[in-house]
Amino acid sequence: MLTEQQVLDALRGIRDPDSQKDIVALGLVRDLAVDAGGVSVTLAFTGQAPATKATMHSMATRLLGQIPGIGRVQVKMGGGPAPAPHAHAPGQPAQAHGHAHGQPQGAPAAPAQVNLIPEVRHTVAVSSGKGGVGKSTVAVNLALALRKTGATVGLIDTDVYGPDVPLMLGTRGKPGMFDNKIIPVEAHGLKLMSIGLLVNEREAVVWRGPMIHSFIQQMLKDVMWGALDFMVFDMPPGTGDAQLSLSQVLPLGGVVMVTTPQDVALLDVRKAIGMFQRLNVPILGIVENMSTFACPHCGQHTAIFGDAGGGRLADEYGVPLLARLPLDPETRVGGDEGTPITVRRPDSAQARAFRDLAAAVTMRLDEVGGLGSLPKIS
Ligand SMILES: Nc1ncnc2c1ncn2[C@@H]1O[C@H](COP(=O)(O)OP(=O)(O)O)[C@@H](O)[C@H]1O
Ligand SMILES: [Mg+2]
Repeated sequence: MLTEQQVLDALRGIRDPDSQKDIVALGLVRDLAVDAGGVSVTLAFTGQAPATKATMHSMATRLLGQIPGIGRVQVKMGGGPAPAPHAHAPGQPAQAHGHAHGQPQGAPAAPAQVNLIPEVRHTVAVSSGKGGVGKSTVAVNLALALRKTGATVGLIDTDVYGPDVPLMLGTRGKPGMFDNKIIPVEAHGLKLMSIGLLVNEREAVVWRGPMIHSFIQQMLKDVMWGALDFMVFDMPPGTGDAQLSLSQVLPLGGVVMVTTPQDVALLDVRKAIGMFQRLNVPILGIVENMSTFACPHCGQHTAIFGDAGGGRLADEYGVPLLARLPLDPETRVGGDEGTPITVRRPDSAQARAFRDLAAAVTMRLDEVGGLGSLPKIS
């Protein structure tokens, strides 16, 4: 049977972002009750900001849910009044979104999720089932193509394991600080943040779930993004902590799923789509990358990995096929050299394909309703 110790050990994975102490050491864990049916616990918050409380609450629910064989998990919020719809700590955006609205003071507290970047109009995640399919390439060129329309665009590299975006954009600059906030680095007209800009390339960081969660929060709330039309998130592959965290801290406008034609056969991409659907994140559509190979000599297209894979997947899920991007040597070189294809050869067919993708994404964002509702994870 489940022991109190197991519960406390799991909860020790959650740290207070200010003191960096775990919530058990801080004495926030109260009224722990373990029985055959499951576990019930109260988080007795002290002065934490509403967003921190919401994060800790959802992390606790999630971490406890991961204990093998656990039954019902009930995490209550205690210690002080429930976060009011517009309550905000200094330095936090004043605008609250989601189900905190209209909740009476002192009502049983659902986690109040505050949009940490209220000045950003549209948020788009670029994700995939597995790595190496061209997510970062798509994220970078999509962001640049959106910028090309005159929109203001930010790009957050959430892939802490392989932060390729700074390299792809040819930037090594360290972000500056102003007024205790990080100033994003500018690259080809984009505002950029990546862990790759903050830590030494060779530094081995072992990222645990809670660290990824607080990293993503920091990328949003501790960075001076200002008003932006679009924020693009380059995600790590799969269905891991980054996807979960991002969709919890932000009402994501939608996700673009990148796949190669042959990967459609794999379970990973379906799992990834299924996860976003469960998290209530609209699937904007599929990007089939490395669709065909355009011969630089004769111009003929060859479907090396087969064709129609992306279209099949799109049909299966009832979402649009947003783009089919050919395998193009210059796209690879552009990524390696820090001048993405949309900047390097703006007149090329590939750059045009990315501009079409940007138009399709913009249309879909409008169609699915811009700011979606926040997912509830419990
Ligand atoms: N359409 C394409 N044509 C040629 N090379 C590509 C294309 N898309 C991606 N690549 C190259 O494939 C490699 C993996 O792409 P990347 O965007 O890093 O994938 P991911 O982010 O999914 O791991 C990179 O070297 C990139 O330049
Ligand atoms: Mg990548």
